[in-house]
Amino acid sequence: MSSAKAQEVLEKALGYITAVELTDQQKKDMTGECIDNYNNYINPGWLKYRKSVSTNEAFIEWEDHDSYFTDIYGTEFIDCLGGFGIYTFGHRNPEIVKYVEAQLHRQALHSQELLDPLRGYLAQALSEITPGDLQYCFFTNGGAEAVEMALKLARIATGKKWYISTIGGFHGKTYGAISVGGKNTYRTPYLPMIQQVAHAIYGDIADMTRTVEKLIATGESIAAVILEPIQGEAGIIIPPAGYLKAVRELCDKYEICLIFDEIQTGMGRTGSYFRCCEEDVTPDIMTYGKAFGGGIMPITGIIARPKMWVEELKENPWILGSPTFGGNPLACSAALAAINFMVTNDVPKLAREKGEFLLKGLNAFKEKYPTIIREVRGIGLMIGVEFFESEIGYSVAKGLFARRVMTAGTLNNARTIRFEPAATTSYEDFGKVLNRLDEALADTKKEFNL
Ligand SMILES: Cc1ncc(COP(=O)(O)O)c(C=O)c1O
Repeated sequence: MSSAKAQEVLEKALGYITAVELTDQQKKDMTGECIDNYNNYINPGWLKYRKSVSTNEAFIEWEDHDSYFTDIYGTEFIDCLGGFGIYTFGHRNPEIVKYVEAQLHRQALHSQELLDPLRGYLAQALSEITPGDLQYCFFTNGGAEAVEMALKLARIATGKKWYISTIGGFHGKTYGAISVGGKNTYRTPYLPMIQQVAHAIYGDIADMTRTVEKLIATGESIAAVILEPIQGEAGIIIPPAGYLKAVRELCDKYEICLIFDEIQTGMGRTGSYFRCCEEDVTPDIMTYGKAFGGGIMPITGIIARPKMWVEELKENPWILGSPTFGGNPLACSAALAAINFMVTNDVPKLAREKGEFLLKGLNAFKEKYPTIIREVRGIGLMIGVEFFESEIGYSVAKGLFARRVMTAGTLNNARTIRFEPAATTSYEDFGKVLNRLDEALADTKKEFNL
């Protein structure tokens, strides 16, 4: 412990933040110090795992704009990962930044006591762009936190106990969220967690029906079915047409609350404001996050039908939750501006058209490299390219990164590489991405002798 040392570090970091331009020595120092700090104060495993597609250089993200981010040495990358769905409207979109800046100069957070008008306007606007009678909102800070609220609301509103989720589903990593998660790696170290959770096979209505009916036949009560309209983390899994509607009918039959987790699929990415709009299904509760803050501020939440807001919650709204920062003015200004940008620029249409363009190019590579690419699938700008082996996917992701294109694909998980670029990315840049992917695929073909 040394406050003098802390002061030295603070001076340096704050100096970097306010510097107009960094000197070559500062860039070099920051690179070394960043590696040391991650190893000594964050997690030694982080660099190896997180940045596994990078070469020996430590790529430090330092600036971003539109569909690009730039490393500390000024090398620009086309961002096709899009923060797993954060950057649907691009990086630091000026049409969003200007409102956040204006709000920052007036008020950032709130006293926690009086009413904040922006929260009300945001809830109203959201209710207008979501289907059916979705109306009451509760704002949170992270996706998993929103999922917690959805799970709690389902229990309090229905008075029932069990949750049914789907194999492969991903809803975040807090206790409730991993309890309904469908991937063993994230769950096993923390077992036992919420006990009343059953998992059905995703996209299989017969299995979902069996899962519901077995619980009911044995005297259990089911609070909610939770699922992603398209599974993201599982590798872009699109359920068969009519699946979401059939789950809705099943939930209606047994008076089960239906939760759609639209944290990744929402805000225009899949070609409609939210995926449930396109499928014409109204859930009882819907979660949203990621791009909801316009790629500027973290803000997530739930929206629910009025029938879910039971008397108990009206009498004491704090039973559900009372996050200090949930729905703060600065975050609300970002979300208001993000919705405005999405609606006025018809982002769903952009995502649909550009998604088709990308899918066409990627499918052509599936024909050209049949021993490398197993399947290409996607809707809008939520696209997955599945390879025959994880090592092959990793090699392609690495090849793309070397060519200054960022996609998902880490050493441990590259069987399906996700493309979730900004809907504002130009066709010219998508053309560059496809050309560079062609080169990366050719290199991989050679490397693995395929
Ligand atoms: C569908 C879905 N739900 C929940 C989450 C968790 O969000 P967060 O990482 O903000 O907690 C994610 C994150 O990837 C997600 O894709």
